Amino acid sequence: MNTYKIAVLAGDGIGPEVMEQALRVLDAVEKKHGFRTERTACFVGGAGIDNCGKALPAETLAACEAADAILFGSVGGPKWDTLPPDERPERGALLPLRKHFSLYANLRPGICLPELVHASPIKPSLIPGGFDILCVRELTGGMYFGEPKFYGERDGETIALDTLVYKKSEVERIARVAFEAARGRRRKLCSVDKANVLTSSVMWREVMNAMAPEYPDVELTHMYVDNAAMQLVRNPQQFDVIVTENTFGDILTDEMAIVCGSLGMLPSASLCQGSESFFGLYEPSGGSAPDIAGQGIANPIAQILSMGMLLRYTCKETAAADDVDRAVRNVIAAGYRTGDLATGAEGEIRVGTAGMGDAIIAAID
Ligand code: IPM
Ligand code: MG
Repeated sequence: MNTYKIAVLAGDGIGPEVMEQALRVLDAVEKKHGFRTERTACFVGGAGIDNCGKALPAETLAACEAADAILFGSVGGPKWDTLPPDERPERGALLPLRKHFSLYANLRPGICLPELVHASPIKPSLIPGGFDILCVRELTGGMYFGEPKFYGERDGETIALDTLVYKKSEVERIARVAFEAARGRRRKLCSVDKANVLTSSVMWREVMNAMAPEYPDVELTHMYVDNAAMQLVRNPQQFDVIVTENTFGDILTDEMAIVCGSLGMLPSASLCQGSESFFGLYEPSGGSAPDIAGQGIANPIAQILSMGMLLRYTCKETAAADDVDRAVRNVIAAGYRTGDLATGAEGEIRVGTAGMGDAIIAAID
């Protein structure tokens, strides 16, 4: 029987409660599809700081190294907001994990299901039937990690400096992930850049164009990032796969998430291509939501779908991953709603975190 090692980093806020549901659903799919997982629970984020003195404790990193994949909850909260920026849960845990494991490909699906069109801030008449976008964000390059970084005095002035740098090879590897992803979907790839201003974007666009002939079945287009930000709220249905650099992707994916309706629905995968499959960190797109933590009302779907992405990209358990996605769609279609999704419409079944987990498990069996 295939066995996969998973490092489980539930983190802070709603992380532990939504993670509990994701692991219950994982139990159900394992039983049905005949594979096993070995799970190691570790501290991360604020829980890492409180228990081990660091957002990313050494023993957590070691457990991640020994694993095939990381299932991540969420980190951060008001308790740790007064720490210096580099030590805070978000930056102190996530950025080092991304860099350490070279998780250069960040896949963020933005799906607005037909039943949840009303939850989007976009007028329902503009998005009939919902939409389904995949944003492929480059995650280990650009301004986040570019050197030099500097904050200090120079020529009698205080200056602060970040560097936006990309190697051609870094753009090529993310381009390939995006073209392949488009091939598995509606075969449309929109590359987002700022080639009218930024030199790094000029190279980005050249690399995309140079790879296009290898994917004659994929239609490649280019869009400036300012226009893309506008088009996402004007007509998200025009997009299939979007590929973009790190900082643009950070901004656009928050925008994409909210136009989908609820952050509580959106998973993500941060991947590094191995020889046969991806090593990856899988996490909900939403944050730790400290305001509703511990009340049993958080939507666990983003965490459950993140676990599904882990089965798809790391374990290659495609049937099981399809099953998770299908079960989620079915419970939404059947009317199950956590608070973030509810409108009070007739036929809605209001559930909490565990109730949503129960419904999804019932839909798996
Ligand atoms: C994200 C987050 C992170 C980022 C922060 C928490 C460092 O906003 O995953 O989008 O900027 O990448
Ligand atoms: Mg972000």
